[in-house]
Amino acid sequence: MPATILVGAQWGDEGKGRVADWLASDSDVVARYAGGDNAGHTVYVGSQVFKLHLIPSGILRERAVCLLGNGTVINPVNMVREIEELRAAGVAVDPQRLMISTRAHIITPAHIALDKASESALGAGKIGTTLRGIGPAYTDKTNRNGLRAGQMADSEAFADALYKHTTTANQRLMRDNAEPIDPHQSAVEYVEAAAKLKPFLCDTSAYINSRLKEGARVLCEGAQGTMLDIDHGDYPFVTSSSPTVGGALTGLGFGAKWVDRVVGVAKAFSTRVGSGPFPTELDGALADRLRGTGENFWDEFGTTTGRPRRCGWLDLIMLKYAADVNGFTELVLTKLDVLSGFDELLIGVGYQIDGTMIHGLPLTTAEQARVTPVYERVPGWHEPLGSVRTWAALPHTARAYIDRISDLLELPIHTVSVGPERDQLVQR
Ligand code: GDP
Ligand code: IMO
Ligand code: MG
Repeated sequence: MPATILVGAQWGDEGKGRVADWLASDSDVVARYAGGDNAGHTVYVGSQVFKLHLIPSGILRERAVCLLGNGTVINPVNMVREIEELRAAGVAVDPQRLMISTRAHIITPAHIALDKASESALGAGKIGTTLRGIGPAYTDKTNRNGLRAGQMADSEAFADALYKHTTTANQRLMRDNAEPIDPHQSAVEYVEAAAKLKPFLCDTSAYINSRLKEGARVLCEGAQGTMLDIDHGDYPFVTSSSPTVGGALTGLGFGAKWVDRVVGVAKAFSTRVGSGPFPTELDGALADRLRGTGENFWDEFGTTTGRPRRCGWLDLIMLKYAADVNGFTELVLTKLDVLSGFDELLIGVGYQIDGTMIHGLPLTTAEQARVTPVYERVPGWHEPLGSVRTWAALPHTARAYIDRISDLLELPIHTVSVGPERDQLVQR
């Protein structure tokens, strides 16, 4: 059976882009099913580094046709910019290789302004969003007054709809004491971008189903991560879409019978960008050590926003939850190389509140804030891993670290990544 769903197992930035790029080498179709340009997926191809926000990583593999499914939200101006940047880097991007669902929703300038207004109104309690207008766009979708990508096919009607939408949103902005936006000025750039995207519009669900019936291999490239899921993440510090496995089916419009592989991607430690609970979070020198210096692309600074990521030890309670929510059939572990140089590593294996162990995840947001982790200590290793290419060449303590994670999760780990480059993968 030909569909693989790739899902972030933590709070995003697990290395989904680099893993999708690897799986895409064997895929005919690569599809994004949720989120928008809040995502930032970094892929190294030789001397080039690509930072993809909306377009699936499969675009870097000539054989793959890429889709943005109905579950995604699209900022037309940023989408056109990304297409042009890819073309300038020598990547072929045309309607034969990239398709946009007519049912995807549009992010407008008003959505971005509303996102900013809502974050500033929250003050210290802010979500820490990427300010890309994601929440307001999904709010309009579920409120049944959003703009859909299919409307871009008729420039005049799209301009009209955008104008009406902006004037309505301005009332909300003024209620929130935020500056209203000029509906004419914002429309011009958007209508121009929409006209450029018109040739890419199609019924992506019909396309994916016809390809599946032919026996094509489909890769569903997740964005964000399980703990950012609107239902399963630590609400309200989440995004507004469903990055988990079910989101792939609703976000693309095909059935569960086609899925034979659900690949979870996790870093060998934990990071989070934005607010919200993070039980195994570290501070001081240890956090700085995991974050890196900011000199390398792979250091822990947000791909989309440049914000320093919060860093901590691996949290197995959360990963076990992610494995259950998504039904992972395997886990890929990334950034193992970053853990070289520690005498010992800590793995979060349980949570307690006021000294009492709890079962699984806390039930309420209030409890979540009070959780402290219980750690298991395992030996580390000092050898650099960047040039390791075989399982046998990994230090035995690194193999033991992977095996311990696999045992605790009751999930196979066949693949680990030891650097951002295409060939820096080790398979068991
Ligand atoms: P995504 O959002 O899940 O695709 O992840 P990001 O691209 O935002 O962040 C992952 C970062 O780690 C990127 O800069 C990758 O190039 C980098 N990366 C991925 N895998 C590895 C790895 O195994 N080792 C190192 N050092 N960096 C990696
Ligand atoms: P990739 O695909 C990491 C986080 C934001 C914030 C919360 C809500 O690169 O893994 P939003 O702008 O979506 O309303 O923000 O979600 N967030 C991400 N964090 N990686 C991402 O994407 C993220 N997309 C959203 O930081 O905490
Ligand atoms: Mg990212």
